Formats: sequence, structure tokens, C-alpha cells
Amino acid sequence: MDLFEYQARDVFEKHGVPVLAGAVATTPADARAAAEQIGQKSGGVTVVKAQVKTGGRGKAGGVKVAKTADEAEQYAEQILGMDIKGHTVKTVMIAQGARIAEEYYFSILLDRANRTYLAMCSKEGGMDIEQLAVERPEALARIAVDPNVGIDDAKADEIFDAAGFPDADRAALTDVMKKLWVVYRDEDATLVEVNPLVKTEDGAIVALDGKVSIDGNSEFRHPEHEAFVDHSKTDPLEVLAIEKGLNYVKLDGNVGIIGNGAGLVMSTLDVVAYAGEEFTGGAAKPANFLDIGGGANAEVMANGLDVIFEDAQVKAVFVNVFGGITACDAVANGIVQAYEILKGHGKDPKPLVVRLDGNNAELGRQILDEAGLPKLERVDTMDGAARRVAELAAAAS
Ligand SMILES: Nc1ncnc2c1ncn2[C@@H]1O[C@H](COP(=O)(O)OP(=O)(O)O)[C@@H](O)[C@H]1O
Ligand SMILES: [Mg+2]
Repeated sequence: MDLFEYQARDVFEKHGVPVLAGAVATTPADARAAAEQIGQKSGGVTVVKAQVKTGGRGKAGGVKVAKTADEAEQYAEQILGMDIKGHTVKTVMIAQGARIAEEYYFSILLDRANRTYLAMCSKEGGMDIEQLAVERPEALARIAVDPNVGIDDAKADEIFDAAGFPDADRAALTDVMKKLWVVYRDEDATLVEVNPLVKTEDGAIVALDGKVSIDGNSEFRHPEHEAFVDHSKTDPLEVLAIEKGLNYVKLDGNVGIIGNGAGLVMSTLDVVAYAGEEFTGGAAKPANFLDIGGGANAEVMANGLDVIFEDAQVKAVFVNVFGGITACDAVANGIVQAYEILKGHGKDPKPLVVRLDGNNAELGRQILDEAGLPKLERVDTMDGAARRVAELAAAAS
């Protein structure tokens, strides 16, 4: 999970990393009120910053220095609703304005290739860091960080020296690096990036921007991270699927897809996309990714169908199951029961094409045939089923 800048700012503050005052606003009026408060600490100067989970906001016009609360309100008006690389700005942060003397760069990340952590650092930080990394890679120091040791005094010194920072900043910078390491370790992050990490005109080191990615696998030990989840961005169907514990991603087409196992679902998307092009001239396309996993029981199947039937764009559904540990007869019984459950919810089924293969496929097919479920067709090959479901979806669209 990637955090918004304002969330990263809060996490930094919690661990003692020096940050400036900031408050979020979703309307120009709120931005003005926040600027009146926060500006008091910096001669009225604040910075209005788009809160979107992408970099390069400054260059896209999403970061503006406001000299007065009036200006902050005007900038918020401009920035709210702006599109930055496909992200719509719904929130701005009003940050205290800093008088910047130097912009440095510092990050800690997971270096998968070398199976370690990596600290990257440069005294030439700021908005052109990507260009710097390409054109003058030697200006960006890269130091491996042993996960068992982290950034201690010795490592901080090593990073400091490699980056060639001015000696006057040693104490403050090494202190910040050590604290950012604690952020990385204690929050179970896979990325902590501060760009710019600035030196102000009065010599203080402050994190002016923060990018933090948290390892989703650590969710169980961070109930407090739940508060960072951005529900506003999520598609309503995805919210429903999350509530039901399903692995679902909404796509744009009209063929609902359910499969067991991520690999099988991915290839099902491919064959449906292909069949849609080949046999319906592009009139049928996958509407979602939904992996019901290995232990697909009736309830999971019912939940899956429930979410997919809820999608008004879906005209036909493809259930593609390869029986493994959960054999096809169990899946077939699951589908039969799912129909009962959905009937109980007053939901009419949509045209459904089922392909069962693998463990106990024959038995599973027999169960479906005997149940005689309305609008359900059985096709026993993946390509054949993809073609049939594409035809059904195209005919109904
Ligand atoms: N609080 C602030 N005070 C003064 N200048 C700022 C402040 N925040 C950002 N800036 C300036 O705006 C630039 C871009 O802001 P930043 O938060 O790094 O966004 P992004 O990395 O998405 O472009 C920074 O490099 C810095 O020069
Ligand atoms: Mg930045």
C-alpha cells in the first residue's frame, strides 16, 4: 500500500523525523482556513500540495507556494479536481512554507536483486532526481543496508560520506537517516523516500516530501495501518468484493470471469479477450479478474457470482475451474448452492458458461447437467467456453 504524502508526514512525525506543519483540505474554503493557521508559523507563506499517489506533482503544477491565505484558497481551487498522471486530486495538503537552502535526496528501499536493503542518497535532490539518476548516476550514492543491522551510526556515516554531504550537516543528517530507518523497519515499509530532504536557511534539516510504501503482508501486525486505506478511490464493486474477502479487480468489459488460481484467471482473461476480438469483432471483453482460490466452496462461489451479477456491464459470465485439491464435484455443488443462495437474495442469474476440468471433472459435469440450472451452459474446453461466453455477451450488449 502506498501512502499519501500527508500520511507519510504523519508517520515521519510519529518517529521523530523533522517535518513541517501540515493539514489536509478538500475544499478551497477549508484550504484557506488551514492556511490562516499554518501560515502563522512562516510569515503567512504556505504551500498547497496535491495529494495523489504519484510523483512529479511539482512539475505538473500540483505544488504551489501561496503568500497569503487568499492565494492558498485560489491555488486549492485550481489544484482540487486536477488530473495528475491519471490521478484526480481530491485532497490538498496545506504545508508550512520552508525557506530552502539545499535540496537533498534520501531513500531506503528493498533491493530484491541483491536480497538486501538499499539506501540511496544525493546532495542534488529535488524535482530532477530521475534525470540525475540516468545522466549522472555517480551523483546518487547507493549503499547496501544489512536488514539485521539497519542504519546505525557507522552506516549513517558511510552513507553521508558516499553522498559527499557538507560536514556541517553531519549530525543532523545522520540523525534523520537513523530515524528514517526506524520508520522503514517499524512500519514494515518497502520504500521510504524523502525528496527533497531540505536544509533550510537557518540550517535545519527537514523532510519536505515523503513517499512511503507499506508491505501488505505485514497487515496482521499493523491494525493501525487500516486507517491509511483509501476507500474513496476504490470502485464500489471492489469495496463489495473486499467485504466478502474476494480477490477481485474491476475491468472494463462485459464478460464476468471467475476462476480458481491467479494464473488460470489471468489466462482466462487472455482467452476471453482473444475470443472477443476473433469472433465478436471486439464486442466482448473481460469485465473483471476474480480468483476464488483453491478451496472454493459454495459460499465463496455465491459471493463471487453475487459481486459479478451486481456489475451492470456484465452480460455473461465464464466460470473456469480446474479441479485440484477442491475437486470439480465440490465446485459443481458450490455452483448449484450458489444459485439457491442468489435466488434467496432475489437475484436473477445472468447467462453462465461453465468449464470444469481436472480432478473429478466428469462427476462435476454430471451434477451440473442434472441440476438443470437456468441460463447455464456447460462447455468442456477453455477456448470453446471462451468463444461461447463472448458470443453470449456480444449478443446481449
Ligand atoms: N513546504 C514546502 N515549502 C517550500 N517549498 C516546498 C514545500 N514543499 C515542496 N516544496 C517545493 O516543491 C517541490 C516539489 O514538491 P514535492 O513535495 O517534492 O512534490 P513532487 O515530488 O511530487 O514534485 C520541492 O522540490 C520543493 O522545492
Ligand atoms: Mg518530491
